[in-house]
Amino acid sequence: MPPLPPQDFLFLPISSAPAQPLHLTLKTSSSWTYCGPLLPLDALDGCKSDAASSSSSSSSSSSSSCPSSSSSSPAATGASLPPSFHSWASHTIAGPSPASRLLAALVPLLRSAHAFLREHGVRHYWLTLRASRPTADFDVPRWHTDDNFFAAPRRPDDDPDAEDAPGLWKLCAALQGPGTLFLSGGEAGRRALGDAKRKARREQEARPHVCTTVRCKACGATSDRVREEVARVLAREQERGAVAVVQPRAGEEMAFFRVGGREGAVHSEPRHDVDRVFVNIIPGREEELRGLMRRWGMEFPRSWSLGVPVSMPMELEMGDGDRERDETAMQEQRSVVVV
Ligand SMILES: [Fe+2]
Repeated sequence: MPPLPPQDFLFLPISSAPAQPLHLTLKTSSSWTYCGPLLPLDALDGCKSDAASSSSSSSSSSSSSCPSSSSSSPAATGASLPPSFHSWASHTIAGPSPASRLLAALVPLLRSAHAFLREHGVRHYWLTLRASRPTADFDVPRWHTDDNFFAAPRRPDDDPDAEDAPGLWKLCAALQGPGTLFLSGGEAGRRALGDAKRKARREQEARPHVCTTVRCKACGATSDRVREEVARVLAREQERGAVAVVQPRAGEEMAFFRVGGREGAVHSEPRHDVDRVFVNIIPGREEELRGLMRRWGMEFPRSWSLGVPVSMPMELEMGDGDRERDETAMQEQRSVVVV
């Protein structure tokens, strides 16, 4: 098995990316998530061996079996994907044949991602497709490193910057809209991020308070303060050439990046005033992902949607492994009634 890229992040080409960029119009911001064996795309990219290797997971209704034909391309129609994918696509994307139009860009990405994953011994993942309407939420970047999502929940007095996630990594790509921002410079970026967070935390400690509501204004102000401070420090580091901001090209490149406060890539959602479609992939061993689903009271494999009506009982509030974003989403979605 070849070693993983040594860098904290690296952009990889998406093979056979469509010549024409996606032009999807979104009706709403929502996400579709699947956790299980690599989705079957067609016989050529090895779905038969995936299905065989995950026989213990084949009982769920949300899992899909490989198609028997090796000459047709079921992925072109999405026939091999969980039904929830089609339901999510029709509620999220305007116009005719929403799933097929999205698949034109999604399938090449998944083929490239699956090849990379298999090359590194990965047969299971947590895959999230996030569709986002234009937003001002990231006009100021939210620079961060991702957490070890398989770790136990953090205790309040744990130092988030000290969290280690040795060897853990993810893949991500924008299929439409701007790519994720990455900070080159590795250690310099993590140091600047850590310094800015510590400074904001010291300010917070100077005005202690107790959270009594789910959405605490003081905590929100601290979060905004961290963003401002990090943006200020990183702008200074950029000016002196210690770090630089780079983005993978939408639909053409995917990013490999490492996770954790010690070796993780510093990154942020990009500013976007256009409809954006983003894909996040967390690789994992079957037992890890199965355990994670169990922790949330869910079966494995499983697919689900957030932000669109579904004809099933309330889904658990889960995100894409970005703990800060997920915690916010959980808080917001606790009051949402899914019909
Ligand atoms: Fe992230």
